[in-house]
Amino acid sequence: MASVTSLSDTVQQQLASAISAVRPEAAADPLLRRSDRADYQANGILALAKKAKANPRELAAEVVARVTTGDVIKDIEVSGPGFLNITIADEAIIRNLAARYADEAGRLGVPYAEHPGTTVIDYAQPNVAKEMHVGHLRSAVIGDSVAKLLEFTGENVIRRHHIGDWGTQFGMLIQYLDEHPHELDHKEAEVTGEEAMSNLDRLYKAARKLFDSDEDFKTRARRRVVDLQAGDPHTLRMWQKFVDESKIYFFSVFEKLDMEIRDEDIVGESGYNDMLAETCRLLEESGVAVRSEGALCVFFDDIKGPDGKPVPLIVQKSDGGFGYAATDLSAIRDRVFNLKANSLIYVVDARQSLHFKMVFETARRAGWLNDDVKAYQLAFGTVLGKDGKPFKTREGETVRLVDLLDEAIERASAVVREKAQDLSEEEIAERGAQVGIGAVKYADLSTSANRDYKFDLDQMVSLNGDTSVYLQYAYARIRSILRKAPEDARPAAHPELPLHEAERALGLHVDAFAETVAEAAREYAPHKLAAYLYQLASLYTAFYDKCPVLKAQSPEQVANRLFLCDVTAATLRQGMALLGIRTPERL
Ligand code: ARG
Repeated sequence: MASVTSLSDTVQQQLASAISAVRPEAAADPLLRRSDRADYQANGILALAKKAKANPRELAAEVVARVTTGDVIKDIEVSGPGFLNITIADEAIIRNLAARYADEAGRLGVPYAEHPGTTVIDYAQPNVAKEMHVGHLRSAVIGDSVAKLLEFTGENVIRRHHIGDWGTQFGMLIQYLDEHPHELDHKEAEVTGEEAMSNLDRLYKAARKLFDSDEDFKTRARRRVVDLQAGDPHTLRMWQKFVDESKIYFFSVFEKLDMEIRDEDIVGESGYNDMLAETCRLLEESGVAVRSEGALCVFFDDIKGPDGKPVPLIVQKSDGGFGYAATDLSAIRDRVFNLKANSLIYVVDARQSLHFKMVFETARRAGWLNDDVKAYQLAFGTVLGKDGKPFKTREGETVRLVDLLDEAIERASAVVREKAQDLSEEEIAERGAQVGIGAVKYADLSTSANRDYKFDLDQMVSLNGDTSVYLQYAYARIRSILRKAPEDARPAAHPELPLHEAERALGLHVDAFAETVAEAAREYAPHKLAAYLYQLASLYTAFYDKCPVLKAQSPEQVANRLFLCDVTAATLRQGMALLGIRTPERL
């Protein structure tokens, strides 16, 4: 557990202290960034000069005079209107990477957050007795990565899968099952996810048909809803059968997605049933919610319907029933007061943004959320087909997630097979799944969540371009070089060697892993990590083209380049793992 100060942080600190030595009254940010002209460029002097009414070039020169060059900064000079161009010493780059390399596996010297908190993240929330679709894919993939990123920074992360397991539709299902008691009995002990879903689907259709055609059944079904909410034991047992059957299906999909979902983290809508009445009472007593036409409502100045009338959040319907909002408000109370969260994240479709806006505002008025306890909807956009329209089958139906994943795996297996040199059939199948699922996840994670994206399998499994396959191949290629290295050529850092431009660029980018992870975690933005990894693979390719590794000039240079290969591979591997994507050793 040795966290490493990044080169950019070291430079940043040195510049900041030089600036405050020159202008003690000003706390100026040097505004450091990577640059094409030098390793880093600092633009902060311009703003400082403006504030101090000084000549920026002169001020820059004064700052430069205060910076000690040597260990880390090899060269610093004024450029343009008052920028600072900074060049890092080769030696410092290799020393820094060596320190990262020496850290425990995968940590790469990335520091933990100074003040970690507790975050509850609500993601991967399919609905009981229903198929999962691409929307559930996005929530699962984005949520899983954000949870991993936060955990990596030391945050205490609590996962909540708010599955849709409650509501009026269960009255119909339970009543039907009660009248056809053997429909969910399993003859064999083991039921596959596919079978479970097809059982549920069959039941759902049959129940629906009866519900729509038979008035008496409808009445009986409605009475069941009341029994369910009242906690009637027999009704609950029936309901549990649906939940259990659905979980078999959910877990099979999550497994296909190569995603670990724990049963204890599944707390569906039903889990808050006991809190609903109290939530309403608290809101009504505090005046946050008011009775309007029998319903308990919360009103907002800025939320109006097309007719100009205010649209309220309904917490309790006029018939006494509780809906989605009451459940979410109760979940907030649970997460804040029982789980002691400081941050609540909801990875949910952007089409539910109005709902969350109203729910969060209501919770703020009630005092459950405030400046110290915040809620955020990580809203994601729609998955589009190649034609740019919401993703549908040719028949216009929503695409089943499993079909989509199977197709991705199939396509990826074909790619793997074509390139495979010495892989067995079994290995091809395993890699095919890792590449196919990786492709789907990466396509989702490499654009910012709030944007819509096109689901295009051809593009996703392409070996060229910004795809996970490209990154996985880059990783496998590095591993193969390391395997091929002779016994006496082991990766070892040699800071005394001068570096090639391509080595420097690669090294500086590896160093930036820590700040990238911190930024991606802070902003809940896995796409920033994806962009970083893509660039890492590209810089590695450039390095590999220009710098012979095993045929380098001296044994020291061979060792140093193998070391660069190894630390790059470790960074790629860890970065991909934070996106939930595997990096096979051989492809
Ligand atoms: N089950 C819902 C759906 O499929 C998503 C639940 C989102 N989470 C929440 N706390 N409301 O749309």
